[in-house]
Amino acid sequence: MGIRFLEQERMFALDTPNTTYLMGIVDREGFLGHVYYGKKLGDVTGAKELLRTLEGPFTPETNSRDRSSFLDAFPFEYASHGVGDFRESSVRVRDANGCSAVLLTYRSHNIYKGKHALPGLPAVFGSEDQVETLEILCEDPCLGLRAVLSYSVFEDTDAIARSVRFENAGGAVLYLEKAMSMCLDMDNPGFDAITLHGSWARERHMERKPIGHGRFSVSTLRGETSHQEHCFMALAAPGADRDKGEVYGFHLVYSGNFLIQAEVNQFDSVRVTAGIQPEDFCWKLSPGESFQTPEVILTYSAAGLGGMTTSLHHLYRNHLIRSPYLHQKRPILINNWEATYFDFDEKKLLDIARESASLGIEMLVMDDGWFGNRFDDNRALGDWRVNEEKLKGGLGPLVRQINELGMKFGIWFEPEMISEESELYRQHPDWAIAVPGRRPTLSRNQYVLDISRREVRDCILEQVFAVLHSANIEYVKWDMNRPLTDLGSAALPADRQGELYHRYVLGMYEMQERLIREFPNLLLENCSGGGGRFDPGMLYYSPQIWCSDDTDAVERLAIQESTAMLYPLSTMGAHVSVCPNHTVGRNTPFETRGYVALAGTFGYELDITALSPEDKAMVPRQTALYHRFHDLIREGEYYRLSSYQENHSFDCFQVNSPDGREILVFYTQVLNGPARHSRFVRLKGLEEGVRYRVSLVTMEEGALLRDTGRVASGETLMYGGFRLEQQWGDFRSSIFHLERLAD
Ligand code: GLA
Repeated sequence: MGIRFLEQERMFALDTPNTTYLMGIVDREGFLGHVYYGKKLGDVTGAKELLRTLEGPFTPETNSRDRSSFLDAFPFEYASHGVGDFRESSVRVRDANGCSAVLLTYRSHNIYKGKHALPGLPAVFGSEDQVETLEILCEDPCLGLRAVLSYSVFEDTDAIARSVRFENAGGAVLYLEKAMSMCLDMDNPGFDAITLHGSWARERHMERKPIGHGRFSVSTLRGETSHQEHCFMALAAPGADRDKGEVYGFHLVYSGNFLIQAEVNQFDSVRVTAGIQPEDFCWKLSPGESFQTPEVILTYSAAGLGGMTTSLHHLYRNHLIRSPYLHQKRPILINNWEATYFDFDEKKLLDIARESASLGIEMLVMDDGWFGNRFDDNRALGDWRVNEEKLKGGLGPLVRQINELGMKFGIWFEPEMISEESELYRQHPDWAIAVPGRRPTLSRNQYVLDISRREVRDCILEQVFAVLHSANIEYVKWDMNRPLTDLGSAALPADRQGELYHRYVLGMYEMQERLIREFPNLLLENCSGGGGRFDPGMLYYSPQIWCSDDTDAVERLAIQESTAMLYPLSTMGAHVSVCPNHTVGRNTPFETRGYVALAGTFGYELDITALSPEDKAMVPRQTALYHRFHDLIREGEYYRLSSYQENHSFDCFQVNSPDGREILVFYTQVLNGPARHSRFVRLKGLEEGVRYRVSLVTMEEGALLRDTGRVASGETLMYGGFRLEQQWGDFRSSIFHLERLAD
């Protein structure tokens, strides 16, 4: 498996099932350079020439007259700063003299089975049989700085995890001003960058554009992953699309400020860097101290974006999500947010629960507004005590009655926030993140708590734990509803203020870790004003994340498509809500809303007591569908067939059961039009020489599936196509079920 050091060539070879990653050491100088990343090489003979040590005018083995031209062109595995490489650096360190140059060169390496956890940070994991790790120790003797470049390779997945640990091995304080998780220099065949962009309620829409000379990046300075830019970039070679061609993917396992950048230089090579956003970052490293960067996942696919998706889904399902719910059917929940907003009491919740229980819904989630004097969103964050005006006698009686209905109970928290109008703020105004002497900017009339401080985390968790211990609460929605601004911590000295953004993220991770340790069976769903913190880091703590505050079925098509390009369907929080939709005012059929939500965790977010009899009648059918198909959807292989973002007309994807016996094809037509032919989509992952019977999922009384009388072979469906008829009306959705026929 995995990782080899080729003594003679002084090269490292990292193999995954279908890829090879090569690095080489330049003998005399110890520069570590990138050789190759791509399709698997059975035999690497001759590959060292790809290290580009022979480019004129300088070659390191012979003279140093033009050392700078070498430094500015060599494909560095982790780039220096300030000594002649003028491309984007990987690291910048301010030393005792105020200078910032760094040059790291190879010293030694270590290869071991398994993978160490990253202290305080989420990271992918695997057993000694599944993953192997290479640690390369590099050093800058002038600074006394060591950097351990870490590469973990999975035996069952085409993914490599990279990160860097810095150690101050010298005698003077150093300031890390930049510490990227990776650098990768390759030739640029004319790559397009594929990135995800959006806004609140419009998260993660895909963009594709060519990269040219200069720098193209995605980043955030909001202190969280953000609705606006996602911590992901893919580079797609010319001709690469969903099904074919070379695609490189870079995805950060981190939930704070990030930067991912592709820079094309004078020799038309591209340097990709990814890691913590260097702006407003400065970490003090005293002698003997170390700093661990977050991890970045690299994927290479020779089978287009679809191949990348398969690798990431596999990696996240098998090597990132730890929750006991990962492979379990999640309870079908109903959340009261869009039903009541802040206007609810025990009676209203019980009315919703009673109606829900009779229709097959399994859990009531009480959203924002149950604590302190939280009658609107201007107050009470930080006061995590039950509002007895709304819920008389506290949570105990309410939860008991809900449990008696056969339902579970879940609750909403926003633990990282503080309202000016709260007990907590009156007692501890200095617990809000703020710059001394400057009134911090309000957002949703709230401030951000300085959870870099242990006592702040303890105080909040103590309150949260007390609530959770007070009743049988089986689910928590952990929300985070504003970005960080006015960075300043009353607990940090001046030369450590640059650590606050990252310390905040570490504090949040620590709180979530403590929460799931205290309540190991809790189903945790992360959320940030919808999907503002949907990232691989959060999946380490929660198996699902609320995808977006936009629950409109049409808006969700693009959001869920791009989210599913990176994340398993089982991670996407998706609910059926009422129409006109609360975000866009659109009316879509109840059936369509159900089919779209079925692609995620599935649940409801509406006042079920006010639902029309026709819609209400569909709820038991939808919940039955969920039970019938959710194992398949959660565990199956996902394939994107057509994109509404591209064709502006319809959405289509497919999920195959792990044993290949059952397939679901989800088809949603947005606007109908006259005089159109049927659409043909080519199905994926079927078997040749096998026939499939096609049924249609139906909301009518009786069986869940209606036989269409259609039978087709695997090869017809994959190479010819599967017919999707134009549907009558707008916003129509169908789900087809294909069953493998016995030989
Ligand atoms: C955020 C969440 C919503 C809801 C509200 C409550 O916007 O995304 O689902 O919980 O907060 O304030």
